[in-house]
Amino acid sequence: MNLTKVVIPAAGRGTRLLPATKAVQKELIPIIDKPTVEYAVEEALKSDFKEVLFITSDKEGSIKNYFLEDKNLNHYLEEKKKYDLLEELPQYHQSLRFHSAHQPEAGGLGAAVLLAEDFVQNEAFTVTLVDDIIDADVPVLKQIKNVFSKTRSSIISVMEVSDIEVPMYGIVEGEEVEPGLYKIKRVVEKPKASETTSRLAIIGRYLLTPGIFECLKITPRGKSNEIQLTDAISLLLQKEEIYAYKFKGTRIDAGDKLGLLKAQLYFGAKNRLWKAELKKYVDFLFSS
Ligand code: UTP
Repeated sequence: MNLTKVVIPAAGRGTRLLPATKAVQKELIPIIDKPTVEYAVEEALKSDFKEVLFITSDKEGSIKNYFLEDKNLNHYLEEKKKYDLLEELPQYHQSLRFHSAHQPEAGGLGAAVLLAEDFVQNEAFTVTLVDDIIDADVPVLKQIKNVFSKTRSSIISVMEVSDIEVPMYGIVEGEEVEPGLYKIKRVVEKPKASETTSRLAIIGRYLLTPGIFECLKITPRGKSNEIQLTDAISLLLQKEEIYAYKFKGTRIDAGDKLGLLKAQLYFGAKNRLWKAELKKYVDFLFSS
């Protein structure tokens, strides 16, 4: 089975980042100098994917446009002799093909993924949620691809969470078949900690077989009156084996205000030139 396509749902309302999301889609809010969606696209590129579909709420496809060549900008930088800036501009369009689909109403992550059916055709594909920024030596999509070469089944990435965090996530119950790899028995969307013994929470990287589309079509509206991807995965589990994979890397949820701030500091501190200055500033802030 080919594995070349990434779907990036980006049609949510982004209420946790209001009021900024009144003006700008949350995926275009920058962490330092790059919109959050660029971290997801970089990961896809480094993991050797070839095609990216954005599901967006705007008809203009501004997220897709961001990744295309901007000849006017190139021309401007050349004219001003800002060759270093020109050199630094990433050229994603040379390695990836970008597509966009419009989700007119936020009907849930499941409804968004269903819009990818024509794009995906009959292949396995991955879904990346932009909020989950994962810094890893081996990009997470690549890690998942490596697991897929063994399982040839759908794979959901997971991480261990604490008891109090359980109700915030989709939770996976399964049997560990090798270190960090679980054959899933059940998935539950945002259970109470007392309703499951598992602490394996679903994080926004999925590898799905095309069988998911038939499941999405019959998935009733669930929590928040939305079509939940987790519910469709439960249906798929009745027909196919699905695995959960504990990825290796540092994950930041940049979908809320504190997470966005953490991501700014995390990536700021990765810049060697800024690190000492940033530390001085943070020390000063917390000492006063
Ligand atoms: P979230 O649950 O984070 O919702 O969606 P949200 O609307 O983006 O943000 P908040 O909670 O209101 O702040 C998870 C992912 O699914 C996408 C979102 O863009 C996000 O990447 N999504 C959600 C859609 O594409 N369409 C939808 O109808 C709902």
